[in-house]
Amino acid sequence: MRSFVSIAVTAISLTQYALAAPNGYGSGQCPPGRTAKAIYFQTNMPTGNSVVAIPIMSNGGLDTSKYSTHATGGNGSAGMEAMNVTAGPDPLFSQDAVVVKGHMLFATNAGSNTLTMFNIDPRHPTCLTMVGKPASTMGDFPVAVAYSKKLKTACVLNSGASDGVACYSVSARTGLKPLDKSARKFNIGQSTPPVGPTGTVSDIFFTPDSKSLIVMVKGNPPTNVAGFVAVFPVHNGKVSLTPVKSNPTGSVALFGSSMISNTDIIATDAGFGTMKLKLNPQTHAVVADVKTTIAGQAATCWTAFSAKTGSVYVTDIKMNRIEEVSASSGKVVSVLNFTNGNMGNIDDAVGGDFLYTLSPSTKKVDIAVVGLACGQGNMKELGTFSIANGANQFSQGLAIY
Ligand SMILES: *[C@@H]1O[C@H](CO)[C@@H](O)[C@H](O)[C@H]1NC(C)=O
Ligand SMILES: *[C@@H]1O[C@H](CO)[C@@H](O)[C@H](O)[C@H]1NC(C)=O
Ligand SMILES: *[C@@H]1O[C@H](CO)[C@@H](O)[C@H](O)[C@H]1NC(C)=O
Repeated sequence: MRSFVSIAVTAISLTQYALAAPNGYGSGQCPPGRTAKAIYFQTNMPTGNSVVAIPIMSNGGLDTSKYSTHATGGNGSAGMEAMNVTAGPDPLFSQDAVVVKGHMLFATNAGSNTLTMFNIDPRHPTCLTMVGKPASTMGDFPVAVAYSKKLKTACVLNSGASDGVACYSVSARTGLKPLDKSARKFNIGQSTPPVGPTGTVSDIFFTPDSKSLIVMVKGNPPTNVAGFVAVFPVHNGKVSLTPVKSNPTGSVALFGSSMISNTDIIATDAGFGTMKLKLNPQTHAVVADVKTTIAGQAATCWTAFSAKTGSVYVTDIKMNRIEEVSASSGKVVSVLNFTNGNMGNIDDAVGGDFLYTLSPSTKKVDIAVVGLACGQGNMKELGTFSIANGANQFSQGLAIY
């Protein structure tokens, strides 16, 4: 029998700000837009991590009356910043701390060194059922996860003293089974928790054809440590143990990234903006293609790709705006300045014709909704939804069902 764990823990209350217009687009120049069903992030609380699941309404907004929270069975954590201050928003220095693929959701537990898998109920996507038990990540401070449907394999990225990548075979019935005896180490010399954001791992993802697993690692300019892209080729359905490492010319601190084809990546770089990178599928080397400096940026770190608009939407933790980058040219095509008064945004995600961005602060987590149905170059700010009483600056990761 299926049992739904910890549905409707009501410690978190949501306050909804009205969407700008009932259909999301005001005077109707744009189509109403397709919507996804639900959105998820993790609280990443050191006292007990939970996934918050919020239904998406037919106008793209969030239904604040029907959210639920689901304990992951692990704890969150936060990295350290300069002078040993606990990191504020972006405590994991990562993209993809929560990932949804098919009917499965994966969430990292940075404070317990485990990875949790849930099944999503397709009829009630805020109902999550944990599958099996949280699995050891064979390293410290896991911050990001990738899943390949073709390989039925999940791989997790550790950022602490024991860093690196561990992979699992995935079954919707039985959960995560380790494929490795130990993690693939980078030995970048971090502590647990890591000191960042520079000099930490950033993101992990498969190419769409599942022929490579890619990891982004930030350099550390003050200590002259170069960042790199690590590409693990997939041979006979298995992620290889040794990566091909590249240092794309001009990169500083490669962060969250989106694959836009089997060879092309739009990566953020906290040092200057974005970089279009090219993967050579034969040699597995990655080279810089287009370097884009974003004017006035502080730390451009997260990406979300819409195949429909052909754009990658990037966020900055200290600038309260979205920069829209053309996936083909790698150049900025438009900017949306939010009017919600927040400091900036971390993780973002595309669901149907809508973009969602996460903006955690000391007492609440905001999710802003942006309409994309008008196509490339036409972002519309639609509204912002607040979650308080239990979710705060520890929150990280954003995924869509
Ligand atoms: C989570 O942290 C608490 C202390 O806050 C500890 O008692 C508990 O064992 C931890 N749980 C896990 C799964 O690490
Ligand atoms: C920060 O912590 C590390 C390790 O605990 C210690 O070696 C270092 O001196 C501390 N730095 C400051 C500025 O307190
Ligand atoms: C966004 O705000 C900046 C200044 O903060 C301004 O220079 C820019 O023109 C604005 N862009 C748009 C599209 O509103």
